[in-house]
Amino acid sequence: MAVEHDTRLQLDPDSLAQEYFSNAVYRHWDPGAIEGLETDRERLADTELSEGEFEEIRQAIARFGAGEESVTEDLMPLALVSEDINDQMFLSSQIYEEAKHTKFFDRYWREVIDPVTAELGFERTSPTDERYYNDQYDELFERTEEAMHRLIKEDTPQNRVEAYCHYHLTIESVLAQTGYYGFQSAFSDTGSDEVTKGDYPNLPGIVAGISKIRSDEGRHVGFGMQKVRGYVQDGTVEKAVVQETLQELLPFVAGTVSDMGVAINPDPLVEYASEKVARRIEIIANADAEIPPVEELVEIE
Ligand SMILES: [Fe+2]
Ligand SMILES: [Fe+2]
Repeated sequence: MAVEHDTRLQLDPDSLAQEYFSNAVYRHWDPGAIEGLETDRERLADTELSEGEFEEIRQAIARFGAGEESVTEDLMPLALVSEDINDQMFLSSQIYEEAKHTKFFDRYWREVIDPVTAELGFERTSPTDERYYNDQYDELFERTEEAMHRLIKEDTPQNRVEAYCHYHLTIESVLAQTGYYGFQSAFSDTGSDEVTKGDYPNLPGIVAGISKIRSDEGRHVGFGMQKVRGYVQDGTVEKAVVQETLQELLPFVAGTVSDMGVAINPDPLVEYASEKVARRIEIIANADAEIPPVEELVEIE
């Protein structure tokens, strides 16, 4: 069957999705080429961490790896229902990036966590071990999976907004950014000094990987905010849907970052998460508030 040329879609170079897609291509990186993992391994083995302190690092790495894996699996329904070629192109870059994030955490476990565990003589564990997850974490990811899969059965504007609120605005914007901020505070000289009670070594490998991941997430969050804002500003979906969904999910985020009691101080993290939610709602609800340009979203210290 011949393809009719007038049905062929043309890309819209002025669309936000194309701008973000080009930025994603331009900022491409390889999770296998991130340097510094050897230094992390040496420093972790040389620092006299208690088993509890090391377990907390393993828990954080396990949760982020599992989180990236879940979002890699759960984005497909949104790409499937989206009918705009520009959006589809951006979403394919996003799925590809989530897969790279998953790959980086898997690599970190194999090349840093396992060898350090052996060197310190601690019990070897798997990143999928139940011990690393709590009920709030499980509930948050289950709800997100449901919100994404609902799109396949019923693709309505409200269901799309709810999907973006779970995935882009809560998991990526609030949970991931808060966690990555915690990581950078704990393992580098940037971020907040109040996050850790103990004194962890600087770990250039994990920090380099996370800087790349945060930069990608900046684009993902920007795209989600722009979409939700569009539905709210043109009156298709009530602003209250956004507010209620984000507020309803915030306790699960707090519950996820609050149970790491040995060396991590959760208060500044919960505060950081709450501020993010308030700021997101403001940008979406206020017609005058602007989403920062893409280069600002991906520029991470
Ligand atoms: Fe990610
Ligand atoms: Fe993401």
